[in-house]
Amino acid sequence: MTTSKLAVLTLFALLGSVSCQSGGYYFYPTPQQPSPTPSPPPSPQLMVGYYKDKCAAYVDVEAIVKKHVKATDAGMQAGLVRLLFHDCFVRGCDGSVLLDTFSNDTSLTPEKFGVPNFPSLRGFEVIDAAKAEIEAACPGTVSCADIVAFAARDASNFLSGGGISFAMPAGRYDGNVSLASETLPNLPSPFTGFDQLVKVFADKGLDAFDMITLSGAHSIGRSHCSSFTRDRLPPSNTSDIDPAFAATLQASCASPNGTDNTVMQDFKTPDVLDNQYYKNVLAHKVLFTSDAALTTNFTSNNLVRAYADFVPYLWQQKFAKAMVKMAGVEIKTAANGEIRKTCRKVNSRS
Ligand code: HEM
Repeated sequence: MTTSKLAVLTLFALLGSVSCQSGGYYFYPTPQQPSPTPSPPPSPQLMVGYYKDKCAAYVDVEAIVKKHVKATDAGMQAGLVRLLFHDCFVRGCDGSVLLDTFSNDTSLTPEKFGVPNFPSLRGFEVIDAAKAEIEAACPGTVSCADIVAFAARDASNFLSGGGISFAMPAGRYDGNVSLASETLPNLPSPFTGFDQLVKVFADKGLDAFDMITLSGAHSIGRSHCSSFTRDRLPPSNTSDIDPAFAATLQASCASPNGTDNTVMQDFKTPDVLDNQYYKNVLAHKVLFTSDAALTTNFTSNNLVRAYADFVPYLWQQKFAKAMVKMAGVEIKTAANGEIRKTCRKVNSRS
């Protein structure tokens, strides 16, 4: 079968999955393709427009978040998209990544200082500013976890020039535990191969399709050189990276004083959230082993081709759905969460 025929078949499978995303033959399990875990049941407590009638006087909570996200630059907006991912994969989407201390106990290190988060994770101040304005207008009502989810949605919208546009259900409660020791076991490393990536996402109720689709977020933002030089650049000989691309990265990462420099993830359209990422994957011009891994599985490779070859709308639509799904991971309720007064610390129990 020719490559283009395969891509067409993949596209049909994709379109067919609009109403049945994790069913059908598309991700039919094979020995190299672990079976995706079933999606978790939709969180009954999350709903679109949740805050419409929650404040004493009408406050447009989502508009306040949007205003603060709009006021930031493309780099910070990329950081906000990543912030949701890192929040949701550790203890669920509960704002635990925002806490400055473990709980009321300052002796343990919180998530934000875990290896995958520090010093690279950004966007905290944007969440703080939105929370402060919302709290002043509507105290004790809007969770930090929801602000993170709205901010990631808005950042995706701005960075895609409006192409990615979706409603974000809300009603999350904030957690009150945050541990750096839980970051490495729950967040995928850039040195990860395909099967392990599938497993890490499956552990959160997300399937291989979601993982490949959400990886398209690597068409924005930056990376520190330490995240890819060891396994992707010469003298490593295990990497399939394009030699000319590797040379430009080596030049950008050269650091006589040992600084961990940063480079843009998408060399072509670094500030646009689009399907260019999938073109870069196919051209072997991506930073991480985990990015390159998407071509090492037959089915995944076909999906990458479909996302790269067809109108950006196809990927944008799937990305929006996958973001909502990710933002529903392990939601807390009033029974096991709270609405924090400030996003950096838990409410006092006195
Ligand atoms: C598939 C597994 C993934 C791995 C292994 C991974 C790994 C990484 C790493 C190592 C960085 C660079 C950090 C640094 O050194 O500065 C990064 C950046 C980024 N990632 Fe991922 N990531 C994954 C999935 C995702 C997902 C699901 C999203 C969101 C939907 C995402 C969004 C981003 C964004 C936007 C950036 C740039 C952040 C900034 O500029 O501040 N990533 N990722």
